[in-house]
Amino acid sequence: MNVVLGISGGIAAYKTPELVRRLRERGADVQIVMTASAEEFVTSTALQAVSGRPIRSNLWDKEAEASMSHIELARWADVVLIAPATAEIMARLAGGAAPDLLTTLCLATEAPLVIAPAMNRVMWSNPAVQANRQTLEERGVRILGPEHGSQACGETGAGRMLEPDQIAAIVCGPQLAGAASERLLEGKTVMVTAGPTREPIDPVRYISNRSSGKMGYAIAAAAIEQGANVILVSGPVSLPAPPGATVRNVQTAEEMYRETHDQIDNVDIFIAAAAVSDYRPVEIRAQKMKKNAETMSLDLVRSRDILASVAALDSPPFTVGFAAETENVRDYALAKLDSKNLDMIVANRVGDDCGFDLDENAVDVFWRDGERAFPKAPKVELARQIMRHVAERYAVSTGDDTQPELSVITPMQVKS
Ligand SMILES: Cc1cc2nc3c(=O)[nH]c(=O)nc-3n(C[C@H](O)[C@H](O)[C@H](O)COP(=O)(O)O)c2cc1C
Repeated sequence: MNVVLGISGGIAAYKTPELVRRLRERGADVQIVMTASAEEFVTSTALQAVSGRPIRSNLWDKEAEASMSHIELARWADVVLIAPATAEIMARLAGGAAPDLLTTLCLATEAPLVIAPAMNRVMWSNPAVQANRQTLEERGVRILGPEHGSQACGETGAGRMLEPDQIAAIVCGPQLAGAASERLLEGKTVMVTAGPTREPIDPVRYISNRSSGKMGYAIAAAAIEQGANVILVSGPVSLPAPPGATVRNVQTAEEMYRETHDQIDNVDIFIAAAAVSDYRPVEIRAQKMKKNAETMSLDLVRSRDILASVAALDSPPFTVGFAAETENVRDYALAKLDSKNLDMIVANRVGDDCGFDLDENAVDVFWRDGERAFPKAPKVELARQIMRHVAERYAVSTGDDTQPELSVITPMQVKS
């Protein structure tokens, strides 16, 4: 495995010779690229000795460019790991800036990008840093840690880089090592519904729910990573479309039903992550309703059940439902799996501290003869794990269960 190890200018850079050794022990070839600030914290002499390769740092180094240009370096990498990642380099990456060798090759590589942020706890909690973290995560950058603990500045809090051995285990582990070549869904078509629906009451009001669409969009992105053609039927959300997805935008449950059934013919796997309104107003008023009475009531009618209707097709795709519940999650999920005749259901408890509009989630997945808990993780990472699991169960359902059972190691599991 070829690892480009980017080192930026944080105090945790002093741990990088150890990180290089741990990576090499696990069989990785390590090419180090340092920022100018990193050289203030760790010497290139030490790093060259432990990596066995000349250190790269200057984009304008004519000799180094002639032997292996930054583009060749970007191609050579199976993974680009930045550890430690400073607040500054996260900002450059989030902004797509490329003023130096490391950020230029990050833009030029098709390899997965993994960063291990490390900084003072107040820096880490700064809204600008958190916004950059979220942007990077939504683009598929894997973010390891940081951990909570004592810091070089003498404070205690979140911002400590994961230990070199933890980082090496994740980077050289099955999840990342296999990720680029995995493509468990090559040639398959996956349809994902995501986001809320809006059921109009009058020209200015509607009934909706708190779904942000983050989980469904992350699932769609994870299916694309696994090589699938993805059709994303999306309710109104404010998220960028995952690159490569065919997006069908809808507003109401009825529109989502029609769009789903219009496209369902060649779909292999259907994943209903949308929070579809169960009811809609019987009548949509042509004019804005006036507030004349103290109380008012609306007559609602049941929306058509998209998930059940797909599972009831003559030859249905592998059908996965989502159950967002506030109580008795397991019981409701199992009842839904059974009553709607689904292949799998992903259950999560929603409330103030989990579920809607948050960046992290934890879910339990149930199928006919099994269940599996996925501990709390960033939605992007969780979606990858769920999608791999869906791909494995799909392979079993089609009789192609030659895929190895893939163990799942997540940063969050390693942390806890
Ligand atoms: C002593 C010292 C320690 C620093 N430690 C950190 C750190 O742990 N994390 C961080 O994000 N920035 C840290 N900085 C600030 C960065 O070095 C600075 O933002 C720099 O511009 C980062 O550049 P780079 O990302 O190109 O390496 C530190 C600065 C100094 C002087």
